[in-house]
Amino acid sequence: MQKRLVRKLDLENAISEIPPHPAPKAYLEQYTITPQAAAEILYIAAYINDDIIDKTVVDLGCGTGRLGIGAAVLGAKQTIGVDVDKVAIRIAQRSAENMGIVEKTSWVTADLNAIHGKFDTILQNPPFGVQKRRADREFIKKSLELGDRIYSIHKGSERNRRLIRRLRSRGTRSISTQPSPFLKRFIEKYGGRIREVYAMLMEIPHMFDFHDKKKHRFIVDLYVIDGSHTLKS
Ligand SMILES: C[S@@+](CC[C@H](N)C(=O)[O-])C[C@H]1O[C@@H](n2cnc3c(N)ncnc32)[C@H](O)[C@@H]1O
Repeated sequence: MQKRLVRKLDLENAISEIPPHPAPKAYLEQYTITPQAAAEILYIAAYINDDIIDKTVVDLGCGTGRLGIGAAVLGAKQTIGVDVDKVAIRIAQRSAENMGIVEKTSWVTADLNAIHGKFDTILQNPPFGVQKRRADREFIKKSLELGDRIYSIHKGSERNRRLIRRLRSRGTRSISTQPSPFLKRFIEKYGGRIREVYAMLMEIPHMFDFHDKKKHRFIVDLYVIDGSHTLKS
């Protein structure tokens, strides 16, 4: 079914109504995605790859639900958000109510490994695995098992100032880049195949004691991946 195209700025504005986590825990790496980065990812997924509209979507490690709610706003058939943190899930639920999309979303407080089934699209901004080693790899493995198409954010392989300047100065918010050799091997080992990688800018306010600046600005890589089901069929 053809759905009305949502303007990127309107999507960003809607997402910015969803609050960040009020008391983020460092060990869960609970930083909240910016509305700009969330809208960029959802735009690529919805309007370049047709992976959102009328699709079943899981937001894995959803936090306060910015990616999942954004997917529902764009016209996902059903969206499930999953996070271990009940405070984050409560905010996601309340935000979905406020936006009038409660019937199209479900919110589950659980570890990602409690989720089973098969879904069209997985959206995830997992912990980088800096605080808890391998936390990011658990997300990759699980998403490959659950989804046909995965949008997964990882620590950027390019972190130089020049790229940050390019991303800040250009009208566009993402630039095609190469995957990290390690992640490529890991994804392929578990049956996935990388279709595209985009470098993007992420900006978070001072949140944890180990942040030494008011704002922390860094490059992340968005991996667009075919899940193991897609490649078998
Ligand atoms: C970097 S934050 C991203 C939050 C949100 N997706 C966003 O982009 O704003 C990572 C999220 O993963 C959640 N998380 C960490 N380990 C998890 C696990 N084992 N199962 C489910 N959620 C987990 C954290 O609570 C946190 O909300």
